Amino acid sequence: MSDITQITSEHISAHGLPASVFKDSTTYDMECDKLFAQGWASIGCAQQISKPGDILPIRIAGQSLIAMRNKNGEIGVFHNVCRHKAAPLVDEPCNKRSLVCPYHKWTFKIDGNLLSAPRYFGSENKVMSEEDKADKSLISVRFAVWWDIIFVNIDGKAEPFEDFIRPLDEQLSNYPKDDIHLTSSTDYSGEVNWKLAVDNFLDGYHVPFVHSQACTLDSVLDQQDLFLSDNIVGLHLANGASAKPAKTAKQLPHFNGLAEDKRGTQQWFGIFPNTLFFVDPCWVQTIVIKPMGATQTAETLNIYVVNEEAASEEYAAERETLNAVLNEVNQQDIELLDKLQVTRSNDIANQGHLNAAWDQVNMTFHQMWLKKMTAQANDE
Ligand SMILES: [Fe+2]
Repeated sequence: MSDITQITSEHISAHGLPASVFKDSTTYDMECDKLFAQGWASIGCAQQISKPGDILPIRIAGQSLIAMRNKNGEIGVFHNVCRHKAAPLVDEPCNKRSLVCPYHKWTFKIDGNLLSAPRYFGSENKVMSEEDKADKSLISVRFAVWWDIIFVNIDGKAEPFEDFIRPLDEQLSNYPKDDIHLTSSTDYSGEVNWKLAVDNFLDGYHVPFVHSQACTLDSVLDQQDLFLSDNIVGLHLANGASAKPAKTAKQLPHFNGLAEDKRGTQQWFGIFPNTLFFVDPCWVQTIVIKPMGATQTAETLNIYVVNEEAASEEYAAERETLNAVLNEVNQQDIELLDKLQVTRSNDIANQGHLNAAWDQVNMTFHQMWLKKMTAQANDE
């Protein structure tokens, strides 16, 4: 079924989104436009480009972008597209003083302005004027950084980012969000539709079974659902299994000034469409989901410790353990998702039954999807 207007909210409540939307390429093309280009999608994190000249290329939902830090330390996000014949400028993360297009060597400064283009006037050997260059800068992209996550709004018309994120900002107002320190960044990819990766992250029910090394069934029984806005849902464990990943001699220090009653709390969130965000008292992880096609998804898992002391040499072994445990958990999900893609995108999946006790949050993500895809389709 590529006609998404036929999907009903009742079907989603009972069974989730129909199987076809997890493999249909017409639906995928529409998602690239309606959800990713028109929404606030994450692309990476600011500490991945910590030094002036750091450049991070990102491919996501049909877009090729670059995030880079200029010599003043400011971040910019641009289309990774030369202003001559649209060749991509950068393929790999790198540190450079300028960007040279591999096609015809047009050269751009790290702030996006065109520096030079070889023999621009052909046989007439003269230098480009500022006026010649003025309309040939890299095309900038609207962005915001929040909890170190870089969000972009490609079409420039989404609601102000502050309004978009406010409900979650308020939910986390007790946490010192500027004191987080990136400790690892790992890329993954899978033969899976991007929505299954989001759905799985919002599925607290699977955690004790797929990740039994990290969590017990008892520990997830106090799971509370969080419905924060039309874009943000989450899960809350008052007595989360927060000590589990740190199977080391000493525990990583928790957020500075965190209230006593929050020191066992784990919360994790899906920020529509593609940002997965987990806050433990002692660590934070973000997963940026990058759709590459209807059945191809890349993702980047970024892990942070949450105060200066935890980022010091004294805790190097504990950080290593944390990174190993969280990456092991993610690898278990990736292997599961590759298999789930085959069955969940087959029509037989439409006979599945969501479970009222456990599936409200991921079902709400499916309802968000339907609302945004159809409301915007009807506007055309
Ligand atoms: Fe999982």
